[in-house]
Amino acid sequence: MTVNMAAKPLAIVTGATAGIGKACVNKLAEQGFAILLVARNAQKLESCVAKLVQKGFTDCYFLSLDMYQPDSVNEIKTWVKQSRFDLTVLVNNAGGAEKSAPLQGLSDDDWYRTFEINVFNVVRMCRELLPLMGPSGRIINISSVTANEPGHFNPHYSAAKAAQNNFTKHFAQVGAAYGVTVNSVSPGVIETEGWQQHMQKSAGGANADAALQQGRDKASGNIPLKRLGLPDEVASVVAFLASEGAAYMTGCDLTVDGGKRRQL
Ligand SMILES: NC(=O)c1ccc[n+]([C@@H]2O[C@H](COP(=O)([O-])OP(=O)(O)OC[C@H]3O[C@@H](n4cnc5c(N)ncnc54)[C@H](OP(=O)(O)O)[C@@H]3O)[C@@H](O)[C@H]2O)c1
Repeated sequence: MTVNMAAKPLAIVTGATAGIGKACVNKLAEQGFAILLVARNAQKLESCVAKLVQKGFTDCYFLSLDMYQPDSVNEIKTWVKQSRFDLTVLVNNAGGAEKSAPLQGLSDDDWYRTFEINVFNVVRMCRELLPLMGPSGRIINISSVTANEPGHFNPHYSAAKAAQNNFTKHFAQVGAAYGVTVNSVSPGVIETEGWQQHMQKSAGGANADAALQQGRDKASGNIPLKRLGLPDEVASVVAFLASEGAAYMTGCDLTVDGGKRRQL
């Protein structure tokens, strides 16, 4: 990474207080970036920043924002412009689906909401923040293997992530004119707080530990490496894409799924 000696490089991570986003924050802080954490729950944000500061990562800040809201990007822009940092890395990680169901169980609103966070939010963040990034900037969008291999459930989510991938490929060409690389990372099944909550909810209040173990056993049966991934294992790949070593990679989608995706 070419560091402007005048200012410390800044990494923004959305969805930063749990799961993959939190792991990305830790890795990028270890790489020497100042960090802006974005999520909704202010208490969790405060607690994450306090822990980072305790570890010696003093340039960590937060904004409590809902990335479903189109205006959130403007608050982030204002913060960056008023900061003393160089925006260098943007990790668009906030995403997912509020409802998990097969096609007939999903309303138009479920589809709109899922496209709002996984597509429109990512489009806005890329479009609005790219002009604030210096050369050797890095944009990393968190996608999903379901973008390429939709299953029986959650067609709104897999279609939204597929649209996100298409946009990432497009935006790599736009970013190139600024010297900024644009890539995505597609996790398979990762044991995050979000995944655990989903498993417990699906079990309908049955024993939480048993529900989690059942979920792990069921998911890992389809994974060649026979286990779920860890948030850190996704964050390492994000950290690589943010590093000098990935300077010539743009428009790529890197899969982190224990071998689950069979497509060449
Ligand atoms: N876990 C998996 O197996 C898996 C697989 C493939 C892809 N992914 C993708 O990886 C990303 C992260 O998933 P995860 O499993 O790590 O999630 P997670 O454990 O549920 O954590 C979600 C994080 O995002 C924040 N967040 C949620 N909604 C938000 C919103 N509207 N605005 C701002 N922040 C928001 C949450 O904090 P607040 O609630 O306080 O906002 C939290 O910090 C998503 O894009 C997901 O689609 C995950």
